[in-house]
Amino acid sequence: MINKNSPIPIYYQLEEKIKNQIDQGDLKPGDMLPSEREYATTYGISRMTVRQAITKLVNDGYVYRKKGTGTFVSEKKIEQPLQGLTSFTEDMKARGMTPGNRLVHFKVVPATSSVANYLKIHENDPVYEIQRVRLADNVPMALETSYLPEKLVPGVTKEIMQSSLYEYIEAALGKKIKEATQIIESSTANQNEVELLQVRKSSPILLIERHTYLEDGTPIEFVKSAYRADRYRFMINMKR
Ligand code: GLP
Repeated sequence: MINKNSPIPIYYQLEEKIKNQIDQGDLKPGDMLPSEREYATTYGISRMTVRQAITKLVNDGYVYRKKGTGTFVSEKKIEQPLQGLTSFTEDMKARGMTPGNRLVHFKVVPATSSVANYLKIHENDPVYEIQRVRLADNVPMALETSYLPEKLVPGVTKEIMQSSLYEYIEAALGKKIKEATQIIESSTANQNEVELLQVRKSSPILLIERHTYLEDGTPIEFVKSAYRADRYRFMINMKR
């Protein structure tokens, strides 16, 4: 029920209620939400408040609006643990999903000063610049742009980038990937991401930057990824 005497804002109570129904499976992906008017009548609250709650859920990727039809529940988000340095291929396989890639571009370019700085190489040293749409069961999940020093990761081909980069580095090149730092920030899809990730204009996006290192501390990759925030949430277990 909605408690109007609570210090918790009413829109937030409704938002949590709907989110709960989605989590519990009472509202399933593809289900249409009751109309604003129905929610307003059921809970004795204003339509403005209902709209505020639903807009928040739209912005967070839990539901989406279809013009002239209604509001629908999005696909369930993938819960990605932040512990453990894994590859996209490993993550998808662990979930029983089939990983796929769509190569957008594959080039060897001179490193810009910022890429050189991240990879601890000289400016203009050759680096692979590879952009891939990462797919799970054929659905676009993320757009990743990777920079790798050509000298350190020789022999990368378009075919290799159609499958797992980490597998190539470890199994074929025999190099051990040791650790990475990752920064996550929120954003909204730009035109390129809208097209390649097949999302609506201004959809929520999680920008992830990963710096990966080999055992001896040599940087091996610098990756910028745009993950669909309607399909992903990140989880970490914390101890104290
Ligand atoms: C994830 C990371 C990337 C990494 C990739 C390797 O998607 N965000 O930084 O490059 O995994 O994945 P794969 O080995 O499947 O190519």
